[in-house]
Amino acid sequence: MFELRTERLTFRHGTASDVEAIHAIVSDWDVVKNLGSWPFPADLGYTINRIVNQPDRNIGFAGIVRAGDEIVGGMGIVGGDLGYSFGLAHWGKGYATEMSRRLVDYAFDCFNWPQLTSEAYVDNPASSRVLAKVGFEPAGTAMAPCAARGGDFEVHRFILARERWDALRNSGQ
Ligand SMILES: CC(C)(COP(=O)(O)OP(=O)(O)OC[C@H]1O[C@@H](n2cnc3c(N)ncnc32)[C@H](O)[C@@H]1OP(=O)(O)O)[C@@H](O)C(=O)NCCC(=O)NCCS
Repeated sequence: MFELRTERLTFRHGTASDVEAIHAIVSDWDVVKNLGSWPFPADLGYTINRIVNQPDRNIGFAGIVRAGDEIVGGMGIVGGDLGYSFGLAHWGKGYATEMSRRLVDYAFDCFNWPQLTSEAYVDNPASSRVLAKVGFEPAGTAMAPCAARGGDFEVHRFILARERWDALRNSGQ
């Protein structure tokens, strides 16, 4: 089974047995108001579809993050774009940064993307901070949709070039 590990966390593809835990996470307004496409109120059919159906393996990967046996969040890199969400109870423990580094490393090893991208709404400084800690660099602002809030909202855009990641990795980041 596909699995990526860090010191405290594991990442694997989602299965039907993960739906309940992820649905609880994305039922929280404070989580989904920061995501692009997840609806609010949460829609079980949408959650099932996102968790059980993997993106085509040529365009990326997505899955769930566990700390021990507990599901703490979901993450993925699709089309070179990194996304993540963690349950409120698990914020502030460094989980997003820790697993993002692992996923970025895997993505550059397994896909020929010259760079990765990500974005964070301007009113979500925690996510911008995660991206900065991983090594992403600011790339301006744009407007991006938010299904939960309804409409387009300003985001900070970020880029992590392959060369920069190689340099960070070689310097033992
Ligand atoms: C954003 C999110 C993934 C962060 O996860 P996390 O595991 O708490 O992140 P980490 O602990 O690795 O790092 C968070 C950093 O943001 C900082 N931070 C938290 N709140 C902040 C705020 N209001 N302003 C500035 N920095 C803040 C933390 O101090 C920490 O930085 P530090 O290590 O330098 O102290 C999590 O809050 C989440 O899932 N939010 C909802 C979904 C979401 O926003 N997804 C991202 C969409 S772009």
